[in-house]
Amino acid sequence: MPTDQRPVIGVFDSGLGGLSVLGALADCCPAADLIYAADTAHVPYGNKSSEQIRARVLAMGQALILEGCTTLVVACNTATAEAIEALRAAHPDVPVVGIEPGIKPAALNTQTGQIAVLATAATAKSQRLADLIGRHAPHKKVHIIPCHGWATEVEALNLDAPSIIEEIRRDLLPLIDHGVDQVVLGCTHYDFLAPTLSRLIGGKAQLVGVASAVARQACKVSNTETLTGTGSIRLMSTMNPVRLPHTLSALGLETLVERLSEPPQPISAP
Ligand code: DGL
Repeated sequence: MPTDQRPVIGVFDSGLGGLSVLGALADCCPAADLIYAADTAHVPYGNKSSEQIRARVLAMGQALILEGCTTLVVACNTATAEAIEALRAAHPDVPVVGIEPGIKPAALNTQTGQIAVLATAATAKSQRLADLIGRHAPHKKVHIIPCHGWATEVEALNLDAPSIIEEIRRDLLPLIDHGVDQVVLGCTHYDFLAPTLSRLIGGKAQLVGVASAVARQACKVSNTETLTGTGSIRLMSTMNPVRLPHTLSALGLETLVERLSEPPQPISAP
């Protein structure tokens, strides 16, 4: 990083999901300058091929670097699983922090030895998830549940969508009845479904999210001068950026609105 470049942490996701990480970052580094970019023109990533996801991740990373970001946070499990290595290779001088399903904390906390992972189809079938399970939960029973269409419902702010409730009842609750006591939120969009999940699970299993851990890691790898920034947040999107401030309030992140330094802008990431 050139010495006169102001540190800025750029956070991106396919859409709104990574706002859960942005919220955690704003809490953990209140003085950091942050840019959030949603690739709304291409959401969801979870049903795309590895090649398509990689192309989007490289385009979004490049666009954020052109906006002045000095650290990148890939606030998307799908993008991390498919493309974080390619992004790091493309920008060897830029720290890149990713997000992976919380298999490790779930394996440490389970009393029954049974874990469920809720993830997009791409994450569910990724080698990276298989490796993560092999590394941290080799002797646990891990049930991977691909959740089709959930990210799209969250994008529409349908946090109580009947299709989601039906899938929770059909695919997750029977596993909990048979001993699963840890439910890993393996997609950043699903953090916003925590109230719905908790209501249906009713205390029989613990939800495991890692947004705060990722935020701490991003603060750690960023230049420490970041912590003496102005605490500004800029919101950007590849489609319909004006919607973003409204979504902050709808997703329970209204405290971030006062940190917005300018109106939301389009980001060009061809
Ligand atoms: N929020 C993303 C994740 O953490 C992806 C959702 C999607 O675009 O399918 O996996």
